[in-house]
Amino acid sequence: MAMDQINGKVCVTGASGYLASWLVKRLLLAGYHVTGTVRDPGNERKLAHLWRLEGAKERLQIVRANLMDEGSFDDAINGCQGVFHTASPAEIIEPAVNGTLNVLRSCQKNPSLRRVVLTSSSSTVRIRYDFDSKIPLDESSWSSVDLCESLQIWYALSKILAEKAAWEFCGHNGIDLIHSTSFLDILDLCHLDLFLMDPMFLASTSEKEEISNGTEVGYRSHRLM
Ligand SMILES: NC(=O)c1ccc[n+]([C@@H]2O[C@H](COP(=O)([O-])OP(=O)(O)OC[C@H]3O[C@@H](n4cnc5c(N)ncnc54)[C@H](OP(=O)(O)O)[C@@H]3O)[C@@H](O)[C@H]2O)c1
Repeated sequence: MAMDQINGKVCVTGASGYLASWLVKRLLLAGYHVTGTVRDPGNERKLAHLWRLEGAKERLQIVRANLMDEGSFDDAINGCQGVFHTASPAEIIEPAVNGTLNVLRSCQKNPSLRRVVLTSSSSTVRIRYDFDSKIPLDESSWSSVDLCESLQIWYALSKILAEKAAWEFCGHNGIDLIHSTSFLDILDLCHLDLFLMDPMFLASTSEKEEISNGTEVGYRSHRLM
C-alpha cells in the first residue's frame, strides 16, 4: 500500500483502541479516507478523540462491527485497499482466532483489497525454551505454544494462534498479509519519522484523549513492548 497515496480508502478495526487511534490520526493526515470499526459507534465519550482529529469530519467514518459476528466487517472492509486489523479481545483465545478469521473472510470478499496489516506481538516470537538474548529472532521465529500454556500466558497464546491462523488463511486465499510484532513497527508503516517528532508519541491508553488536542503528556516507555 503506497502510504503517500491520496484519497485511498483503508479500514482500521478496533479504531478507538490505543494503537488504532494513532493509526487513524496518521492515515487521516496522509490523506486517506478511513473507515474505523468499533463495537459501539454511539459511545460518544470513547470516540470523541477520533472526531477531533484533523480531517476526521471530512474523511473518517465510524461503523459498528464485532469480531464475534460472522460477516460483521463486510461493509466496513468492502472497497478498502488496505486493512489494519488491530481489534483484539485481550487474552481470550477462541475469539482472537475466530475474530481474525472473520475479518480475513471479509477481506477475501473485497475485490479492492491490496494488503492486510495484522498487529501481532513480540510475545509471538520470544517466549521459548531456547531463548538466548544473543541470538536474533526474526520472522521465522515462533514462541513455544507448550511454554505459553504451561506458564498460562494467555495473551501470547491468543496472539500466536490468531497469527498462525491468519498466515494459513491468507496463504490459501492469496491475500497479501504483513504482520507487525511491535508497536514501533506499526508506527513505522505509517511514517514513523513523523511519530518520532511528535511529543504525543508515547501517550498511554488513559491519555489517548490527548491525541487529538495536542496537549503534551509524559513518556510511557512501558507501552513500547
Ligand atoms: N499496545 C501495544 O503496545 C501493543 C504491542 C504489541 C501488540 N499490540 C497489538 O496491537 C493491537 C492493538 O493493541 P492496543 O493496545 O491498541 O489495544 P486496545 O487499546 O485494547 O484496543 C483494542 C480494541 O479492540 C476492540 N475490540 C475488543 N474486542 C472486540 C470485539 N469482540 N469485536 C470488535 N472489536 C473488539 C476494542 O474496540 P471497541 O471496544 O471500541 O469496539 C478495542 O478498542 C492488539 O492486537 C495488540 O495485541 C499492541
